Formats: sequence, C-alpha cells, structure tokens
Amino acid sequence: MGFDFTPEERRQLGYRLIDRINTYFSSLPDRDVQLPADERTFGQLRDAMPELGEEAGHVLDDVCSEMIDNGFHVPSANYFGLMNPTPTYMAVLAEALVSALNPQLATLARSQLASKIESETVRWIAERVGWHKKINGETVPAGRRICDGTFTSGGNEANFTALALALASYFPASIDDGVASINARPVGYSSAESHHSLDKSFGLLGLGRKALRRTPVDEQARIDLAKLIEQIEKDIAAGFRPFVIVATAGTTNSGAVDDIVELSAIAKKYNLWLHVDGAYGAAAIFSDKHRDLVRGIELADSITIDPHKWLAMPFAAGVILTSQPEMLERAFAIATPYMPKIANAPLIDNFKVSAQWSRRMNSLKLWLTLRVHGRQAYEQLIDRQLELAKKMATWVEQSDIFELAAPQFLPILNFRVKGISSEDESEALNIAIVDAVTRDGKMWISRTTVGGRSVLRMMVISYLSNESNLESLQKALVNAAREVLHPAQQIHTAR
Ligand SMILES: Cc1ncc(COP(=O)(O)O)c(C=O)c1O
Repeated sequence: MGFDFTPEERRQLGYRLIDRINTYFSSLPDRDVQLPADERTFGQLRDAMPELGEEAGHVLDDVCSEMIDNGFHVPSANYFGLMNPTPTYMAVLAEALVSALNPQLATLARSQLASKIESETVRWIAERVGWHKKINGETVPAGRRICDGTFTSGGNEANFTALALALASYFPASIDDGVASINARPVGYSSAESHHSLDKSFGLLGLGRKALRRTPVDEQARIDLAKLIEQIEKDIAAGFRPFVIVATAGTTNSGAVDDIVELSAIAKKYNLWLHVDGAYGAAAIFSDKHRDLVRGIELADSITIDPHKWLAMPFAAGVILTSQPEMLERAFAIATPYMPKIANAPLIDNFKVSAQWSRRMNSLKLWLTLRVHGRQAYEQLIDRQLELAKKMATWVEQSDIFELAAPQFLPILNFRVKGISSEDESEALNIAIVDAVTRDGKMWISRTTVGGRSVLRMMVISYLSNESNLESLQKALVNAAREVLHPAQQIHTAR
C-alpha cells in the first residue's frame, strides 16, 4: 500500500528507465518516425481502472515497449515535421528533477531558487532581444529598453498574454469592467498566415474572433503593408478601435517573417501595440550570424518565443516578454489572503504576472541546457539547420519534378509538383505524395496551404537531422512522385 518504494527499488526503477531512454536516444539518428500505415492503431484503451497495482518494473517495461515500439517519434531525425524538436538530453534530465522537486512557482516563497532560475532565464532571452530585465538597485545600460516576462505553457498562452496586455494597456477599465465597458469595438491585425491561437485568444478575451483582421499577404507570404494600412483606416472610419498589430516571425506554414521594422512604424503612426509572434522564428536572436532574420524585433511591445520549438526543449516551454513590464502586473495581479508573501521580495510572485496560477518549472531545462552547452551551441544549431534547409531548397530548385512554392526564410520549405495549373489537381497530388512518403513510417512530412495554394511542407527541426536524412527524404519524394503522377507527366530523369 502507499506510493513509496524502498531506496533500492527506487534506484533500480530509475536505472531501468534511464537505460531505456538512453537506448532510445541512441536510436534517434535513423529511427523510423512511426509504424507502417497498416499497423497503426488509433483506437481507445478500454481497460478498467486498476483496483490494485502491478509490479512497477513490469508496468514500466510495458509502457516503454508500447510507446517506443509502436509510438510516434517526434524526436527522430527523420521527422521533418511541424515545429516540434528533439529535446536536448539535459532537458530530459531537468524534467525528471523538476518532477521530483515539484517547486510551486506561483509564489517566490515556495520556489526560491526555482523562481530565480526562471527569472534569470527570462533575463538571458531578453538580453538577446536587446532588452534589459532589471535587477533591483542596478542602473539600466544606456539605450536598452527595460522589459520583463514570464514562462508560459507555449505560444498559445504567450500570444493570449500579449493580447491581454495590449487590451489592458489601451482599455484599462476593461480589466475590471470587461470589454463591454469599451464604447467601441476593439480590433487587431495580423497576417492571413498568422497562427490560429490568435483567433482563439480574440474569442476568449471577449473581443470576438471577427475582431482579428487577417490581412492578405504578399507573394512572400508576409503581411501586405499597404492592405494593412487600408484596413486600419477603414476600421477607424467605421468607428472601430484598433489596438494591436501582431507581426509573425516565422509563420507555421512557410516560415515567413513579417517586416517588423515597417510594422513598428505603422503601429507608432496609428498608436497600436506591436506584438511579435516569434513562437518559432524569434529563436534566431540566439544566432549572431542570423539575427537579421528577425530584424526590428526589439521594437516590439511584446514577443512570444517558444523554447519548445527551435530551442530544442520538450513540451512545455513558452515565453512572453514585454517592453511594457508594468502591464504584466496591471493585467494579471490579484490579491489573496492565502498566498504566502515575502516582505520586500526582490522578485514578483509569478501568479501576479501570468495567466497561470499553480505553475510548473518550465525554465530549468533551458537554463541547464544553456549552462551545459552554452549559447553558442544554439548558434550552431540555427546555422546548421538553415544550411540544411538551403541544401534542400537547392535540391528542389534543381529537381525535374518539384518547384519551390514559397521563398525559404527559416528552415521550412514549401514545394509542389511542377507545371500543375489546377489547384484541385495540385491538392490531390500533395495528399497522395504525403501519403506515399509517410506510408512506411520511416519519415514524416506534411502538407498545408500558403497564400491559398496547396503545398508540400517539410522543415529541419531535429538537431540530429543531417545530409543523409535529407537524402533519404529526397529519394522518398522522388519515388512518391513517380508512384502518384499520371504517366502522361513523363518524368524522364528524376533527381
Ligand atoms: C507561429 C506560431 N505561434 C503560436 C503557436 C502556438 O504555440 P504552442 O503550440 O506552443 O501553443 C504556434 C504553434 O506551432 C506557431 O507556429
């Protein structure tokens, strides 16, 4: 009875698990992403809740075998997926430690070192933006904007937080009296390619999803600035209250980065909050060489960056930063009689600056990874993945079968079969090609639409992916195209 084990049992179970994880990590460079299509099962488990437990080692072995042998392997080097990385090993260890210590990051009183680590990690990221997170009593370096920020469960929560900050900043009465107290309808702007967490947040904040004006994009899948200005002026003339522009730094579909410098000028002209959704792409700030990819990010009022995307962290780790730090407390602070307090605390309790209350320590994994590998390891990761994506782009450009369907900014590629004029035909081909490439389970790509056009999508997201993984993907794409293309297409020399 009870949940504890003897020290020896704990040790044995721990080693048993770490051996499995170790073997698993060794397999990742050429591991299949999943089972072949005809062996995958998506049914529900139907076992009754156990009244009495079973032998722990047996249960652990059972679940490991099932998840490893039959699971879907996001960490595989052959996963050219959505924005989900291979976690760093230090992060895996950090997660175990966090679970064991279970620090309660809602308040400083119950998470002293943990809160300090979280705060320091936010400060490190902010410094790469070019901002400064102030430590009590120090003077701020000249030319640096003061900022603050907090960890979130991911980009969705970070974007929600940013919009809540913008709303609280422009309509302070709405914090207590709700959006009904605003005497005109607030509206905001993002590109048609922006992430759908924004629509969700507009709905949840009581603004209504229609209040997010999804502005058309240019041929590079970046927000069309002229159309944006047109829409803002139209809204003002119609009596709406524009309050926020969201720039995307790394769209989910194509990795497009909006022109943040221009958007900042537009935001200033119309007195709007500028949020940069850099859930994926903002990580380019970790590279000196490629920082220009997100030029102007320091001009933002708030930034979303998700370490669980390009920074190789396991779920969950998002961050919201803001150069209007006082807004965090204004939007989220609340007084309670029961939360423990520290007199003259140097750090603010997290529950007062966040949509979360009880909170997990999501920062340790990044902090430990940085301590063990250093910032330069990220610089190398970013440089390397961009280089691999460029190689893949060159291969597509030289291919007899495929062509690029959008420019490549970040390590994301959109491409499609050449010379297909009908969108319906292109979509049907893309479905068939994704099916053919992923059928045997060895690798994973996806499809989506960009600027309304159906495209194949791959990205380099695992730090383990290398040229040989790319070559296998190229072969699989050529074979898939051969399989699905109408013989009349006549591919003579498929590269
Ligand atoms: C650009 C962008 N923003 C926000 C999100 C949401 O992030 P999360 O899934 O971490 O909540 C995503 C997810 O892929 C994204 O691509």
